[in-house]
Amino acid sequence: MKLPNWYTEYKDFIEKSIERYLKGYLALPMSAPLEMFKEVVLYGNRWGKKLRAILALEFYLSLTWKSLSSIKYEDDIVKLCIALEIMHAFSLIHDDLPCMDNDELRRWEATVWKKYGEFQAVLVWDMMNCLSFELISDIKDPKASQSIAKLISHSVGYYGMVGGQVEDMYYEHNLSELNIETLQSLHAKKTWKLIEASITAWCILSEEISNLDIYGNFGRKLGLAFQVKDDILDVEWTPEETGKSVWGEQKGFVYLVWLAASKKILADEIIDCKKIAETLGSKKIDFLVDFVANRKK
Ligand code: IPE
Ligand code: IPE
Ligand code: MG
Ligand code: MG
Repeated sequence: MKLPNWYTEYKDFIEKSIERYLKGYLALPMSAPLEMFKEVVLYGNRWGKKLRAILALEFYLSLTWKSLSSIKYEDDIVKLCIALEIMHAFSLIHDDLPCMDNDELRRWEATVWKKYGEFQAVLVWDMMNCLSFELISDIKDPKASQSIAKLISHSVGYYGMVGGQVEDMYYEHNLSELNIETLQSLHAKKTWKLIEASITAWCILSEEISNLDIYGNFGRKLGLAFQVKDDILDVEWTPEETGKSVWGEQKGFVYLVWLAASKKILADEIIDCKKIAETLGSKKIDFLVDFVANRKK
């Protein structure tokens, strides 16, 4: 689908901010192995749709009546965007490891473990996890910093992405125990919590908590739609189209709960998201809903 100019501008801004932050953080001359490790960190963070940061940025901008041109690299919202994308990127690096999905292609190139070896992929996760929280600790308002640290930690840890990945690995080998309910609970942890947090964190930053429920509901629905769509792509698309290894019919979760059921869940969640986007009155948020529904990578 054709991306509007504003999406490309947001993505550009986020990519440049991530690069600036990482290059600044890694600027000190170090030993040969650590110089090599810098390359691994930069490689692990390149490309990607940057959807979580774009959601955070757009919710922040549209609901505080600001435009991208008013945002500076030093602003707290930028720290949040970088932290979200670093979190997300390291989750993919571990997800691809041989002991997990054992995938060799990510973002159209070799996965981190395939290119640099497994220990680098494991350690880059450890380092990027620390870095995300360092960024959040740099948010100027101490109350916002503390609340966002807790929100992100909850979305990524035991009750979030890590928990979802534990269940994902379990059900892959215990398929008979999987049904739509257990799958949705897995999706909630694995994917939608971080997407939900990307949307609600701005409320904490801007102290606008009156509509937290609406944004949270939108985030959960968009997050579920995002993962269901990802699972459908896993079954219906090829690595050439998605830029990453795909499971195909034999292992894809979609296959297990039937493709038609997944398409129905996706369609229902997207209809609800479109309704919420309409009440928010933002064309950009409305576009992001369509983007999640129609994306091919
Ligand atoms: C893929 O996420 C993994 C899931 C959580 C489904 P993205 O599709 O956002 O991956 P990138 O960042 O664009 O590569
Ligand atoms: C991606 O999960 C990793 C996380 C959500 C933590 P998947 O294994 O379902 O996604 P892809 O297809 O590899 O991107
Ligand atoms: Mg996986
Ligand atoms: Mg995977």
